[in-house]
Amino acid sequence: MKRFYIETFGCQMNAHDSEKVAGTLAALGYEQAVSPEEADLVLYNTCSIRDKAEQKVYSRLQQFRKGANGKRFGVLGCVAQQEGLRIFERAPHVSLVCGSASYSRLPELISELEKGNRRVTGLELDSNETFETPYTRRDNPHRAYLTIMEGCDKSCAYCVVPYTRGPERSRTRESILEEARQLAQQGWTEIQLLGQNVNSYRDPSRSDYKFADLLREVAEIPGLRRVRFTTSHPRDFGPEIVEAIDANPVLCDHVHLPVQSGSTRVLERMQRQYTREEYLRRIEWLRKARRPIAITTDVIVGFPGETEEDFQATLRLVEEVGYDSMFSFKYSPRPNTAALQLDGQVPEEEKGRRLTILQELQRSIQIRRNAELVGTVQEAAVEGYNQATGQWIGRTSQNRILNFTHPGGAGADLTGKYLRVRVTRAGPNSLAGESLDLV
Ligand code: SAH
Ligand code: SF4
Ligand code: F3S
Repeated sequence: MKRFYIETFGCQMNAHDSEKVAGTLAALGYEQAVSPEEADLVLYNTCSIRDKAEQKVYSRLQQFRKGANGKRFGVLGCVAQQEGLRIFERAPHVSLVCGSASYSRLPELISELEKGNRRVTGLELDSNETFETPYTRRDNPHRAYLTIMEGCDKSCAYCVVPYTRGPERSRTRESILEEARQLAQQGWTEIQLLGQNVNSYRDPSRSDYKFADLLREVAEIPGLRRVRFTTSHPRDFGPEIVEAIDANPVLCDHVHLPVQSGSTRVLERMQRQYTREEYLRRIEWLRKARRPIAITTDVIVGFPGETEEDFQATLRLVEEVGYDSMFSFKYSPRPNTAALQLDGQVPEEEKGRRLTILQELQRSIQIRRNAELVGTVQEAAVEGYNQATGQWIGRTSQNRILNFTHPGGAGADLTGKYLRVRVTRAGPNSLAGESLDLV
């Protein structure tokens, strides 16, 4: 039996791509191994969003520089697309390099590898197809990822994604709804719609059919209890999305709306195509929704030319919005990107100082916001049991972790079920409570 091992870095799109790749390999007769040592084919599905992420694949490959015993190595994903043939120079024991826009060619590439070909590549980027396969092997039996679009047509000055994932292309409404219906029939109750910029989704055959229309239709599929989506670009985020969420509680009470900076001057240099005020208008739409919607974000500190004043504007915006959660990063210069040409690089130490201040502020906001939920009753989707604490691990519609005790303890078989839970305590990163009943 041929065996493969796959390790995944990066975002949810990459995680889901790996599920598709794993299914494709299984259909080719490969069995999935739990460690690289046991595999004949070792695949790394890579991320290039920041330098640290990119370096991870090289440190993995380093471990097998010698004595790989006939093992074959493949680099997939964003570093593969970005570095292309250079990967063979840096790691000569690699024999497959393939970017996400070429995954539909994987069966053909794998067969070339099996024939003994030492250098096999899939690096065409200008594709208008999306990678769909009936073989997707989803890791989570309750929550399923579903790609609605691939690539990105924005040109944020710091970002590699347009170079690693190619131009934006949407799947047809029919194929998305068909896959969602199948998932529901097979027992999945939660679906997460994926794309780099889901708000610019358009049905390729009907340009008046937009993301909010798709949201409404997916949410009506019988059997689905929760539908999430990621990621939203503020520029294309319209009030019709809030209206769709208002109309159907299956659409979760959570929107991830990356702001990147609170300073219009920096946003302009980042080519984000919105001002601070336009961003805040979107927050207002969300705050007017009929049920409270959690808002989370991404922030980059130390973008070239970011002054102390710009940074203070970001802190004020973060305070004003009161985000429920945040991912924050030090700006990392990336190959091919426009920001490389900008002057005013911020020293590493200063980036570190700003990041710490921002993260401390966010922590205090989360403590405050989570504390507001003590005493409320939340619906938790159960993800598993924590032996160490004796608590079940749940997630609320707002995407908060809610750990809770249940009379049956570990024996209760709750994973994948939905319960009402009374919140009794709150910390910066999670809530804790006691179960009431199944819903
Ligand atoms: N498509 C998504 C973002 C994908 S990347 C969107 O537009 O929101 C996820 C996050 O990584 C970005 O939101 C940004 O905050 C961060 N990021 C991207 N490039 C970066 C860079 N060069 N340095 C630091 N952070 C970066
Ligand atoms: Fe990158 Fe901007 Fe596209 Fe997001 S919208 S993937 S940050 S270029
Ligand atoms: Fe990383 Fe590529 Fe995703 S760069 S964040 S894996 S799109």
